Amino acid sequence: MNILEIQGQSGISRILIGESLRNLSNYVPGAKTIIITDKNVSRHHGSLLSGFDLIELETGENIKTLQTVESIYQKLLEYQADRTTFIAAVGGGIVCDLAGFAASTYLRWLDFGYVASTLLAQVDASVGGKTGVNLQGYKNLVGVFNQPRFVICDLNLLETLPSEEILSGMAEIVKHAVIGDPELFETLERNPESALSLRKDLLEKIITASIQVKADIVNRDEKEKGERRKLNFGHTLGHALERTQSISHGKAVSLGMAFAVDLSVRSQLLSESEARRIKSLLFNLKLPVKTELDMALIFDAINKDKKRIGDTLHFVCLRGIGQPVITEISMSELEMVIHDLC
Ligand SMILES: NC(=O)c1ccc[n+]([C@@H]2O[C@H](COP(=O)([O-])OP(=O)(O)OC[C@H]3O[C@@H](n4cnc5c(N)ncnc54)[C@H](O)[C@@H]3O)[C@@H](O)[C@H]2O)c1
Ligand SMILES: [Zn+2]
Repeated sequence: MNILEIQGQSGISRILIGESLRNLSNYVPGAKTIIITDKNVSRHHGSLLSGFDLIELETGENIKTLQTVESIYQKLLEYQADRTTFIAAVGGGIVCDLAGFAASTYLRWLDFGYVASTLLAQVDASVGGKTGVNLQGYKNLVGVFNQPRFVICDLNLLETLPSEEILSGMAEIVKHAVIGDPELFETLERNPESALSLRKDLLEKIITASIQVKADIVNRDEKEKGERRKLNFGHTLGHALERTQSISHGKAVSLGMAFAVDLSVRSQLLSESEARRIKSLLFNLKLPVKTELDMALIFDAINKDKKRIGDTLHFVCLRGIGQPVITEISMSELEMVIHDLC
């Protein structure tokens, strides 16, 4: 097992990579624990959840709403949760974001921890203390920063995960490698197939290295005042693609990263050869780097976010593998570049 720590304003979060859901009771403080999970996790791994009070949610991004949070509050009331009750989320990013937000607000704050059951939740969503829900189609518009007391990354849980979900996690791992860890990048370059087939020793290594990149950034900028923006690499375009093309988050982010790489070359920041290496790695991990896209639609989607992000947006480019640069780009420049590159 590998252990990493995040020092947040609300406390220390310990991330345990290679620990098992079976040992959950060793980490929850003495008093009553309520588990929040979803139907899929419960179907595959429910036997490991027996003995706890359970709140079982539906699945899918459209349950990430205040209504679901209210339904969690109602269950907490029924279970007579009090200040000493501990909330354990067992699930992917959706369960963690919802449970973390519900715990942070019920009785103004209940202590909570996560057992991350998807690759994406292990390397990304469970790490860093952002909790929250969507509002009127805007992602994660309502939320709070609050660190879970612990995050258990149980590698065995990933065996039941659909391959599309593995790809989504892989895209975030590549993102972390590209923005912060050239050695992780090389490890992935050497072993794409073993990574995809979830070879345990390799998996523990790449998950740990990937979390380390995010943890280091969060430790320096918990509240996203500057450096944390690096984590948006591939996501400006990625989110727009996800919304307009009905493709998975991982594929959208992969295309977003490929676009950011092209933009970096065009801006004379990144060499052609490094750009090729990044796109080859994505390709070898079965992630897309090229597609037929309706650019007008995508630009509209980015533009729709203008209300929220203002007239210029922060766009993460690269000077090299492991060297992200946050640039500011106006909406009209972006439109031109999208037009040129696609
Ligand atoms: N808080 C953050 O910093 C942060 C960062 C990145 C993403 N997120 C959020 O995370 C969410 C996406 O997370 P996700 O990709 O984990 O999605 P998810 O929670 O929807 O999980 C993906 C699917 O896998 C199923 N599942 C989960 N664990 C399983 C297992 N072990 N075996 C079989 N099926 C399993 C789920 O039921 C779901 O159908 C988004 O809402 C995103 O906004 C948050
Ligand atoms: Zn992402």
